[in-house]
This record gives sequence, C-alpha cells and structure tokens, in this order.
Amino acid sequence: MRIDIITVVPGLLEGPFSHSILKRAEDKGLALVRIHNLRDYASGKQKQVDDYAFGGGAGMVMMIEPIAKCITALKSEREYDEVIYMTPDGKTFDQKMANELSLKANLIILCGHYKGVDERVRQKFITREISIGDFVLSGGELAAAVVADAIIRLIPGVLNDETSALTDSFQDGLLAPPVYTRPAAYEDMQVPEVLLSGHQANIESWRFDASVRRTKERRPDLLEGREVKGDN
Ligand code: ADE
Repeated sequence: MRIDIITVVPGLLEGPFSHSILKRAEDKGLALVRIHNLRDYASGKQKQVDDYAFGGGAGMVMMIEPIAKCITALKSEREYDEVIYMTPDGKTFDQKMANELSLKANLIILCGHYKGVDERVRQKFITREISIGDFVLSGGELAAAVVADAIIRLIPGVLNDETSALTDSFQDGLLAPPVYTRPAAYEDMQVPEVLLSGHQANIESWRFDASVRRTKERRPDLLEGREVKGDN
C-alpha cells in the first residue's frame, strides 16, 4: 500500500512515520508513506497556499490551484483508490472503515488547515471525507496520522504476530479483554487463575466472557441489536 499525504505542515508528520510499527512497515516494503509539502505546488514568490474567504469572515481558506496541481501530479504517476480529505465534518472514522481502507492499494490524504479548503476542491477531487471525532484540531495532520496508523497496522505482515490485530478491540465488535504479564502477584493483586492454567479452551472462554462484560460496562451501544452469549 502507498499513502500520499498532502499538507502545509510536513514537519508535523515526519515523526509518526519514522518510528516503530509504521517505520517497520515501510522497511519491509508493505506500506510506503510519502509526505508532500503543498507549498512546493504553489506559484509566485510568496508560494501562497491560502487566501481570504469570499464574503468575508475570520480565517483563511486553502486555495484550489496548489491542491489541484499536487493531486494531478500524483495521479499522473499512478491510479488512486481514494482521495481522502481530513475534516471534522467528515464521516467518523472507525475500525470498519480502517479495515476497508487497509485493502486499498493507493490513497491520497489531504490535510485541511485554517478554515479548510475551497469547497470546489471537495467537489472536484475528494472521494471520501473523514473525521476522527467530534472535536476540532488545528489541522488534519494529526488526524491523517491516526488514520494511516490504524490502516497500516492491519496490512498482513506489518504486525509480527498477525493474530494480534484480529484480537484488537472493535475487530469483532467487542472491546478487548484485560491482559496481564509477570509478575503473577503484585502486592495483593493476582492475575486470574485461569490465565495461568495453560488450559487454552478455558482461557479463550474466559477472555470472551471478559470482553462481553467489559463491552456491556463501557460501551453498551456496541451490543445494541446483537445477541452475544458469554459473560456468565
Ligand atoms: N481537522 C480538524 N479537526 C479534525 C477532526 N476532528 N478530524 C479530522 N480532521 C480534522
């Protein structure tokens, strides 16, 4: 998979992709992330990428020309499955959307800034608009990093233990069960006996029940309209 991210603040995105799982995904050739500085596509001495809003009002608007130039240049090199715009008024990102996007080959992600992009960018180029929640960030960069991380870790081979993405919270519509590691006893707190038993079927059954219990307690909305056994 390849993800091209278009931004006016490339520095904000350098960190997340040069560490840990995302770096490993790139080193293994499983996910290539390229950051594009929108200013490189702006014309004139000023390299202007934003301008005042027609009709007045506070805040600058990102201009269509540099964005069009950048997207057109990328599209001339390969076909893209989606051109995504990060915006608080987009569809809320969730694990289902992450699963869906992880199957794509090439994605462009445009990060909004200031008051956002000229509406014509959305009409002409954008195929999907994503929000990471009902709050407003100062730009789409951190949101793009969140989305890229959630997608890339799902690509087969990116995580060492492939089953670990399958047992994530939300992957089966339930929250993940609690996990423990050594020591088995800490102060007066014991690891549940069953996890030390070595009896795999009992362990799986305990984990499922614990998942259901945790979901009922914390996110009952995830269980609406679903009949789940367990939690006995
Ligand atoms: N840009 C600013 N706020 C955002 C949000 N909540 N989600 C996605 N992009 C954004």
